[in-house]
Amino acid sequence: SQAPVNVTVTGAAGQIGYALLFRIASGQLLGQDVPVKLRLLEIPQAVKAAEGTAMELEDGAFPLLAGTDIFDDPKQAFEGTNIALLVGARPRSKGMERGDLLEANGGIFKPQGEAINAGAADDVKVLVVGNPANTNALIARSHAPDVPADRFTAMTRLDHNRALAQLAKKLGVPVTELKKVAIWGNHSATQYPSVQHAEFGGKKIADAVDQAWLENDFIPTVAKRGAAIIEARGLSSAASAASAAIDHVYTWVNGTPAGDWTSAAVVSDGSYGVPEGLISSFPVTAKDGKYEIVQGLEIDDFSRARIDASVAELVEERDTVQKLGLI
Ligand code: NAI
Repeated sequence: SQAPVNVTVTGAAGQIGYALLFRIASGQLLGQDVPVKLRLLEIPQAVKAAEGTAMELEDGAFPLLAGTDIFDDPKQAFEGTNIALLVGARPRSKGMERGDLLEANGGIFKPQGEAINAGAADDVKVLVVGNPANTNALIARSHAPDVPADRFTAMTRLDHNRALAQLAKKLGVPVTELKKVAIWGNHSATQYPSVQHAEFGGKKIADAVDQAWLENDFIPTVAKRGAAIIEARGLSSAASAASAAIDHVYTWVNGTPAGDWTSAAVVSDGSYGVPEGLISSFPVTAKDGKYEIVQGLEIDDFSRARIDASVAELVEERDTVQKLGLI
């Protein structure tokens, strides 16, 4: 039988961790025939809580779960890892400036990047979920020079799924009818959920909804959905974020269907005027374990302005972490 795939999850005792780990253990991350070994990373104060989660994982008696180990040292947690889910991050506290937030997260993602560089398996795939996800991924990547750049990604799949859900509701069709929706830019309020190339049942979505709805309803609803969930639930979106992380990795490993794409923040090769090296969301396809930016799309003026605005924010974040010596 197949050797287990090592999956490292950081922030394992957090909210997303709690929703994510059981789905990984049940086989939904990689597929129903792939055994997994979990390596949980937490800060020392949260190790006990992670141990509690590990007890529950044990009690699930999951046929595909080959074991769970808990660490408070990134070097050990990433040793031999094949899939690294970087969920734990430093949240913004009251009065914290953007620069302080980026600096605090640099203190997390720099050592994690170094640990991945030093000890991860040759085929390691990294998904950064912890915010600010794109720039945290940039920091980790810049400290892992021996790992191919395209192994570092950040999550905009939740935004993509939110966009699908809103469009399915508006058009009165199941999400499975929708194709070629895309999230561009930063996983932040500046993101651009685009339907410029999107289709439903062979028709163009842009012809079926009006521009005013797209601008005043759809785009802000998708971009601000996280805040709406905090407002309603009193807690941030954790189960849907975990679900999107599962989708991101599953697609990365198993591919996108013909005639469709998905969204992920990947290292830019300069496509669509996004500066090379930035980790920005694009429409992407996956094949043979690689995400690739969809090439050759025509970009209309509305899309151009929205993409540029979100990419400008990513450039600012990159310049800030550069000045702080974090990349
Ligand atoms: P949470 O606060 O419940 O859990 C975070 C966990 O990370 C805590 O248990 C904490 O102890 C741990 N942690 C902190 N520093 C760590 C380190 N250096 N190493 C290992 N673990 C560490 O937060 P939640 O709800 O689970 O969210 C996690 C992150 O995901 C947040 O940054 C949140 O903003 C982000 N997020 C991203 C989304 C996306 O679409 N990209 C969607 C939703 C949340």
